[in-house]
Amino acid sequence: MARIVAGVGTSHTPAIGAAVDNGKTDQPYWQPVFKGYEPARQWMAKTRPDVIVMVYNDHVNAFDLKMIPTFALGCAEEFTIADEGWGPRPVPVVKGYPELAAHLVQSLVLDEFDMTIVNEMQVDHGLTVPLTLLCGAPAEWPCRVIPLAVNVVQYPAPTGRRCYQLGQAIRRAVESWEEDLTVVVFGTGGMSHQIQGPRAGLTNPAFDKAFLDDLSRDPQRLTGIPPIEYLREAGAEAIELVMWLLMRGALGAKVEEVYRFYHIPASSTAVGNIILESR
Ligand code: DHB
Ligand code: FE
Repeated sequence: MARIVAGVGTSHTPAIGAAVDNGKTDQPYWQPVFKGYEPARQWMAKTRPDVIVMVYNDHVNAFDLKMIPTFALGCAEEFTIADEGWGPRPVPVVKGYPELAAHLVQSLVLDEFDMTIVNEMQVDHGLTVPLTLLCGAPAEWPCRVIPLAVNVVQYPAPTGRRCYQLGQAIRRAVESWEEDLTVVVFGTGGMSHQIQGPRAGLTNPAFDKAFLDDLSRDPQRLTGIPPIEYLREAGAEAIELVMWLLMRGALGAKVEEVYRFYHIPASSTAVGNIILESR
């Protein structure tokens, strides 16, 4: 049977990808960020999952205002890298797992989560930067990746509670797949940040710390945070944190926090990383 063994929460700040791609990781500004991710990279190399379910958001690259699915599952054989304005990032194509993805869609829809099926999609920094942070810069990504795109760009975004429930349904779906596979679920984006308007640059370390603490201690409190509160307290783009709750829902009742890293500044973002293992 396939099993979800752990979850990874991580920011996806695009400037982090640019720092790697342009050889700037040793610069004083970036060095602490990459040092902070080193233990997570080692954990990933040791854990060697067969599949990553990557819960991320597209930033008007695969989807635009013509079509905005709330929850979209990537069912393709592979996902090419989007050009976000300065050429596609020089990272490997992302290999999917169409058979397992089709099973997840089947299970989720019968479980009353109305997923959008995506058979062709390019992926942007929301997906590639977390892969870079946890896997480094290999010639091929070390495992297959099933993208789960959540709309947090055009309002209304789904609630944290709905995301958590979808995570629980993903756990049921994965556990009904017979092949022996280890699966790690990523929740990406965040933490506190706002990238436009008069409050651009806003961060809220107290909000972020409480969020990190309660992922293991009291996820029910986090599922009660209404979307507007993320915006008010932690900046407009902090709404990306609902994707961390989707990851948390997929881990089952008991988790153990095995790593945490938090750092400001990285572009406009308070960078956070947490690793939770299912117990
Ligand atoms: C930044 C962060 C994001 O999550 C994003 O999608 C774009 C930009 C930033 O910090 O600049
Ligand atoms: Fe983002």
